[in-house]
Amino acid sequence: MRVAGRLAADVLDMIGEFVVPGVATDELNRICHEFITGKQDAVPAPLNYRGFPKSICTSVNHVVCHGIPGERKLKSGDAVNIDITVIKDGFHGDTSRMFFVGKPPIQAERLSDVAFESMWLGIEQIAAGKHLGDIGEAIQKNVEKNRFSVVREYCGHGIGRVFHEDPQVLHYGRAGTGLELKAGMTMTVEPMVNAGKRHVRLLPDGWTVVTKDHKLSAQWEHTVLVTDTGYEVLTLGANDR
Ligand code: MF3
Ligand code: CO
Ligand code: CO
Repeated sequence: MRVAGRLAADVLDMIGEFVVPGVATDELNRICHEFITGKQDAVPAPLNYRGFPKSICTSVNHVVCHGIPGERKLKSGDAVNIDITVIKDGFHGDTSRMFFVGKPPIQAERLSDVAFESMWLGIEQIAAGKHLGDIGEAIQKNVEKNRFSVVREYCGHGIGRVFHEDPQVLHYGRAGTGLELKAGMTMTVEPMVNAGKRHVRLLPDGWTVVTKDHKLSAQWEHTVLVTDTGYEVLTLGANDR
């Protein structure tokens, strides 16, 4: 899981310089696919996962998650979440970050910052003996304190040999409730934070999730190991380790 996590983070470190005005999201997909299969000798988990057609997810502006890379060209001011999941030796590493094309609009940057900070507040709750609700409450409180909203329909998840497994890691809830964490568990924390209302809509392509009010959404994700004394983040970037 450490190896898979590091590889997934390495893809995000690699792709940053390509997120520039005029690049098509499909081009970002192609570059990541080549890197994962060619350089890492790993497998892009999204490709053909339940019929998903591409190797990464690219979720632009009001797209909440599961955006499908395509012909659309990014323009200055766009905010894009790139979500990478690789399989190495049978194990999954899953991580996503926000990227800005050119100079970020101030409200998009603030939304991304709050999503990032909320993800970390959730992660910092993790330790053997704590409960899933501790993570959810920490995230929800911080998001709502900033007058943004937490998406409820999608959540973090157990991860290992299987991409998405139990438990569901909700990004809202009440401290002290839910499953008790045990050392050795691995899960993702990946809050989706909306600038407006929390409600989402699934597009007819069956994948793309957008905000109902078409306001911006932001997301960050790490894969985390529960330890006796706390947590170990398995998907830190090169600048974080
Ligand atoms: N990587 C996403 C997650 O964080 C899942 C993407 S599923 C896909 O759980 F099929 F859209 F790739
Ligand atoms: Co995930
Ligand atoms: Co992901």
